[in-house]
Amino acid sequence: MDPEDLKKAIEMVKKEGKLNLKAVIAVDIFGAPCEFDEIIKIAHENGMKVLEDAAQSYGSTYHGKRAGAVADMVATSFYPTKPLACYGDGGAVFTNSEEEYNLLVSCRVHGMSATDHYDNLRLGVTGRLDSLQGAVLLEKLKIFDEELVKRTIIAKTYDEKLSSYYGRQRILDNTTSAYALYTINCEDRDELMTYLKEHNIPCGAYYPRPVNTQTAYTKWNTRRLPVCEKLSKTVLSIPMHPYLEAEAQEYVINTMNEFASQKAKKAA
Ligand SMILES: Cc1ncc(COP(=O)(O)O)c(C=O)c1O
Repeated sequence: MDPEDLKKAIEMVKKEGKLNLKAVIAVDIFGAPCEFDEIIKIAHENGMKVLEDAAQSYGSTYHGKRAGAVADMVATSFYPTKPLACYGDGGAVFTNSEEEYNLLVSCRVHGMSATDHYDNLRLGVTGRLDSLQGAVLLEKLKIFDEELVKRTIIAKTYDEKLSSYYGRQRILDNTTSAYALYTINCEDRDELMTYLKEHNIPCGAYYPRPVNTQTAYTKWNTRRLPVCEKLSKTVLSIPMHPYLEAEAQEYVINTMNEFASQKAKKAA
């Protein structure tokens, strides 16, 4: 999220006067924290809270603090593709406010009252984390820091060895990414994706369709997000997990660099 653009969006909504500004949801895309100092300042100046979507960034750090300890409220996902993953659906919400904590506990279980379990005070969801997933997470937590180090080593190897033909994600100073995904930027993305698949290298475009263009949101006539819309056509996520072997990574790098040099030859 670009803080300057956030300011413009807030001004636009205020000018239109139709919506009540409540909160900003900032997504730590691919595992890298947003510019929280700026985003929190802008949001608080406008009476809004900041909700951090740390689904991909659990384990990342922002100015020495772990994701979960920076924004007003933070949600993460333990879905199997995430850095801290269980074997099915799971997630958590972090807050430092006791009032919000109590509200969340109630919402997690149908909106239940803390004193009378047969009375529901509000509409809630069925958001319990089941015990089996909890048991998996407790074991995974023991090796989580080790896995983060392994992900970082793999990311640094990509950073170093991939051709400069590919754009890299900018990781802000004084922050670390949890590298849920390693994502490059390439003008010939669809062609590259076909090339990698032909070479048996799994890859994916995350995400091909930005939120502002989703059918469910069109009724609000959301504004254009030109940077996001352009990136949705050029980003590609390549193999990344803590157990990616050096030989397999080298094969990915060599194949991608071959594609880049074929492109350079054609252009010359
Ligand atoms: C950035 C981001 N936010 C939210 C989610 C949703 O997580 P869940 O499916 O566990 O609710 C995901 C996972 O796909 C994600 O990557």
